[in-house]
Amino acid sequence: MLPRLPVYILISLPVLLVQGSTAGSSKKSPTAPASPPPPHPPPPPQGDPSWALGLRLYQALRSDSSSVNTLFSPLLVASSLGALGGGSAGSTASQLQDLLKTSPPTKAGAGELLSGTLKSFTDANGTSFHLHTSSALFSKQAPAVSQAFVKDSQARFRLQHKALGKGDSKADLKQLHGWAKAGLGGLEGAPLAAKVQAKAGALILANALRFKGLWQREFSEESTDHRTFLGKKYTKVMMMHRAGLYRHHEDIENMVQVLEVPLWGGKASVVLLLPFHVESLTRLEKLLTPELLSSWLAKANVTSVAISLPKANISSTLSLQESLSALGLTDAWDQKVADFSGVSEKSKGKLHLGGVLQWASLELAAQAGEGEDKLEEENIEKAKLFYADHPFIIFARDNTTGALLLIGALDHAEGEALHDEL
Ligand SMILES: *[C@@H]1O[C@H](CO)[C@@H](O)[C@H](O)[C@H]1NC(C)=O
Ligand SMILES: *[C@@H]1O[C@H](CO)[C@@H](O)[C@H](O)[C@H]1NC(C)=O
Ligand SMILES: *[C@@H]1O[C@H](CO)[C@@H](O)[C@H](O)[C@H]1NC(C)=O
Ligand SMILES: *[C@@H]1O[C@H](CO)[C@@H](O)[C@H](O)[C@H]1NC(C)=O
Repeated sequence: MLPRLPVYILISLPVLLVQGSTAGSSKKSPTAPASPPPPHPPPPPQGDPSWALGLRLYQALRSDSSSVNTLFSPLLVASSLGALGGGSAGSTASQLQDLLKTSPPTKAGAGELLSGTLKSFTDANGTSFHLHTSSALFSKQAPAVSQAFVKDSQARFRLQHKALGKGDSKADLKQLHGWAKAGLGGLEGAPLAAKVQAKAGALILANALRFKGLWQREFSEESTDHRTFLGKKYTKVMMMHRAGLYRHHEDIENMVQVLEVPLWGGKASVVLLLPFHVESLTRLEKLLTPELLSSWLAKANVTSVAISLPKANISSTLSLQESLSALGLTDAWDQKVADFSGVSEKSKGKLHLGGVLQWASLELAAQAGEGEDKLEEENIEKAKLFYADHPFIIFARDNTTGALLLIGALDHAEGEALHDEL
């Protein structure tokens, strides 16, 4: 079978942007440099604990071939595990620390970095994105929890302590669901496939996050139209379009396009990885490392790009226990071995981790932030096509610290089914 030749290779050429060549541009001054100063980029993924854990965890989750539209927040998982690390000792603590290890090692320390990012991230709510988020450590019939631990994890990692009721596992699940729905700002999360069986002394770490980015420049609502999305099932979806200047890189060898789309106010950006051809994401996912992502983002430069993206929601509810165990977190789950002596003095032989749950939801829509109309007009020439009519990987990245807020895959877009299937 012949591979489908990507159309954009045929029609796109490297574009040289001529500054101020737009007719009637009044902003140009005679002393202006030939090209704008490069915007100050955030630190690269390499050396950031949320990327280190996020990419490995993503790969572990995706090694289950039945996973569809996987989405979670590496920042929330990493910071909540960081908080739990502060309440543990011995091999439990070192295994938790290992999950957040980066190469090269972080200068400030993973905890400080994560705690600082959480603050800048929640402070940006309402400008670059709409955000609902909540993190909690639930305990089931546990010995009295140390107030110092509760205070510290709340202050630094926004992790609240909650007690699970005395009921059975069905009652626990109901309580967790109710909490998640509130954390998602009233949105009903995807159902949880795994069972939650909290024994006495179980600690359950839960994160909920709902994110809707507001683009720096909006996608035109008028040109939104019905197109086919070639995912797990072929579906008819609404596609939105925009041509503009974006940081873009094409890795010919690995056959993937990398695109960075800034969000309003510059507090965060969305990074998209789109394979050249229609294919499942398996091949691309195996490549992902902080080093490769750093190199792609460093190589991306400003180019005219014509973007087409499906309007879609990705919602995912995940139990991370199996994947975290595969990454080396083994002692925490075992009542006899786990050491959470910082969470409670009377922890021995009781306190253990009973679950790590994650409710996440991401909305891809056309809107920009307030005041978008005041931006200067862009000079678009011979745009590269970034035509996302097939599965892609999506990241949301904090622009100040470079941390990974969200990682996800769109394998399937909801819509009226067509007959052909991948
Ligand atoms: C973000 O702002 C919205 C609207 O003001 C609010 O409902 C929500 O709770 C805020 N989220 C966070 C995490 O503070
Ligand atoms: C990140 O922030 C810097 C400094 O405010 C800004 O120049 C740059 O354009 C921002 N990047 C994105 C992708 O928004
Ligand atoms: C973009 O960056 C690459 C490598 O960093 C460089 O070879 C290329 O000339 C750049 N393109 C433009 C249009 O500046
Ligand atoms: C995504 O969800 C929001 C509400 O949560 C809804 O308003 C919107 O229409 C949904 N978008 C799509 C493409 O289904």
